[in-house]
Amino acid sequence: MRDALLTPGPAPAEGRRDYSLTGVEAERAVRAGLADAQWYRPPIDAERLQDLMARTNGRAARDVVLWLVLLVAAGVLAFLALGSWWAIPAFAIYGFLYGGAADARWHECGHGTAFRTPWINDAVYYVASFMLFREPTLWRWSHFRHHSDTIIVGRDPEILFMRPFRLRALIPNLLQLQNGPQMLWRMVRHAAGSIDTEARDFVPPDEQRRLVWEARAFVAILLGVVVWSVSTRSIVPLLFIGLPTFYGAPLLYFFAVTQHAGLREDVLDHRLNTRTVYMNPVLRFLYLNMNYHVEHHLFPSVPYRNLPALHAELKDHLPPPKPNVLAAYREVIGALRHQRVDPAWEVPDLQVPDDRATAGYAKGAATVAIAETVAEGHTDLGSVDAVEPGGILRVDVHGATYVLCRPSADVYALVDGFCTHGQAHLADGLLIDGCIECPKHNGRFDVVTGEPVRRPARVPLGTYHVEVVGGRLVADLRPADTAG
Ligand code: FES
Repeated sequence: MRDALLTPGPAPAEGRRDYSLTGVEAERAVRAGLADAQWYRPPIDAERLQDLMARTNGRAARDVVLWLVLLVAAGVLAFLALGSWWAIPAFAIYGFLYGGAADARWHECGHGTAFRTPWINDAVYYVASFMLFREPTLWRWSHFRHHSDTIIVGRDPEILFMRPFRLRALIPNLLQLQNGPQMLWRMVRHAAGSIDTEARDFVPPDEQRRLVWEARAFVAILLGVVVWSVSTRSIVPLLFIGLPTFYGAPLLYFFAVTQHAGLREDVLDHRLNTRTVYMNPVLRFLYLNMNYHVEHHLFPSVPYRNLPALHAELKDHLPPPKPNVLAAYREVIGALRHQRVDPAWEVPDLQVPDDRATAGYAKGAATVAIAETVAEGHTDLGSVDAVEPGGILRVDVHGATYVLCRPSADVYALVDGFCTHGQAHLADGLLIDGCIECPKHNGRFDVVTGEPVRRPARVPLGTYHVEVVGGRLVADLRPADTAG
């Protein structure tokens, strides 16, 4: 979820892996089966997971309002302190809230899990994107890829630390001195209609127009602030809009470093490439609980407010979390020092429980119903009570998988069991507002029409006719658009 380095880098030096998305490592990752692969997933009670995935508006509203109030208060203090030394700490706080804490809001609203109401997620996502110089559509698709192929070299566009680690590259970026101008220049090129090959690699062609217009809007706003500053011969407007992305970045990196740095590349197990760190309540507010980062990658449909509870459910299957930020940094710094001279060096003894054989590896956690075929190609899915109102049930019939949904007491819908975006089991997802949300990237489909209603889902699900006959649910498993 980082400013890593979305901008295409220079050709790899000798001995250095090619982290670009269009080079030899990209081909190698696909050949090795590391692209869009099945990842380790710990077992969890299906009902408990449904509880944890539930959405509300209240908690996120409180946290976003509190963040905005603090931001405005820090801005007022900074303005009043202009001309005195007090302006330095006041602007530092303003910058950390603007260019640092915005990252977690951007991230959670990008997943669509912060608020129950989709447009509020999108509104916060766009504002935070602007604050971070992140083009919204570009970064949305980049982050989908990050979740599909976490720290897979040649696939993940958000790898922050490339091996061998180079301190020279990190230090300027603590103030976005390298990434910031690169992101701005990329935005300008996109605004001019020139989309680079890396962006074309993960942004679908029919979304690239939107990307261009977003870049134009952001560039226009930033130019407006520059003109304001120049015309008033004052840097103050830029100190409030634009420059905080740079001088507030240390907080962003303070958190980002703890996520994956120094851990394994090219593994299909988030327990080996992602780190959970215990943090105090202030840091967890600023970071929206993303310190439970392994848990977030395992179950990205669980909203940030429930990550501590998810951690409690899963902790027996995960490596011990780092007890504090200091311990996390000790591990990161040790690993980066070794990887600086030996890029193949790995953190020893990650203490990952060896539970792949018994822990439901790559299996859906939801209930499986064994259905029986009845007369004339119709299939008995069971009693009308097989699924609760508001619930979903995975149904396997002769090797095919479906999801039976009951969005309200009297409505049943049957759809394909696998997401059309990435082959995730939809029965592990969430039924919400008449849609089923995929557990892998939070794409959504209308359960009655099968139509995709939230990216990255773009191809409709097959839907099947299901009716109540004598207290039983009977389905016609021919696709609804071909059934008689
Ligand atoms: Fe990506 Fe379902 S696998 S949205």
